[in-house]
Amino acid sequence: MKVEGEVAVITGGASGIGRGTALALARAGCDIVLADIHDGRLDATRREIEALGQRVLAVHCDVSNDADVEDLARRTEAELGAPGILMNNAGVVLRGALEEIELAEWQWCLGINVFGVIRGIHAFLGGMIARRHGHIVNTGSVAGLVALTGEGAPYIASKFAVVGLTEALALYAAPFGVGVSLLCPGGVNTNLAETGRSIGMTAERERAETLMAQAVQGGAEM
Ligand SMILES: NC(=O)c1ccc[n+]([C@@H]2O[C@H](COP(=O)([O-])OP(=O)(O)OC[C@H]3O[C@@H](n4cnc5c(N)ncnc54)[C@H](O)[C@@H]3O)[C@@H](O)[C@H]2O)c1
Repeated sequence: MKVEGEVAVITGGASGIGRGTALALARAGCDIVLADIHDGRLDATRREIEALGQRVLAVHCDVSNDADVEDLARRTEAELGAPGILMNNAGVVLRGALEEIELAEWQWCLGINVFGVIRGIHAFLGGMIARRHGHIVNTGSVAGLVALTGEGAPYIASKFAVVGLTEALALYAAPFGVGVSLLCPGGVNTNLAETGRSIGMTAERERAETLMAQAVQGGAEM
């Protein structure tokens, strides 16, 4: 897809992978809509994109809130025009002792990582189908392809859901001329740890989790 001249909406666009993608798309000639809950970084990234000479809209948008995401779609169309690219990228990590993690914590993690993606699809896919034009990128993870640790179960479950949802969405959207991509990063140095929640992680559990991850990744003996 030629991206020059497109309007690209990026959730979690103020930091890390979302910010990097926003800057790359702006350099390639896209106008950018940044959606995030971190107002300081939202403003800093907005200024970086403005300096590249592209139009940019920075929206305080919590992807775990239905109205925020619907409002994001409305403002995008009204202020920058029809979006051609949507990157459902906002995500958080939840990990820990599974018997201690409250259901509210599970809902927090899946509400952002899974339902945040669903809300993005709900708000933007209809317009793309009507225009027979657009591309949706969902950020999964290597953790959505293989379970490396037990303590990571909430995050892993959320990313497996994103992978399945994205594969099905690709099948659904293709006949309408709407493209779909799945991004599965490995380790990337971002601010992800800042928003992450760890429940009941003792030093022993941290050590076991690290050993398990190293063993699976490096094929080492346990
Ligand atoms: N960093 C890695 O190693 C890695 C690996 C695999 C997948 N990922 C995934 O990449 C995506 C981006 O993460 P990152 O590593 O760039 O982290 P990051 O924390 O630097 O960026 C994520 C952004 O999402 C925003 N955000 C968090 N909750 C939000 C909400 N409810 N609504 C809107 N915005 C919200 C944060 O404020 C932040 O700006 C996530 O989905 C993450 O799971 C990251």
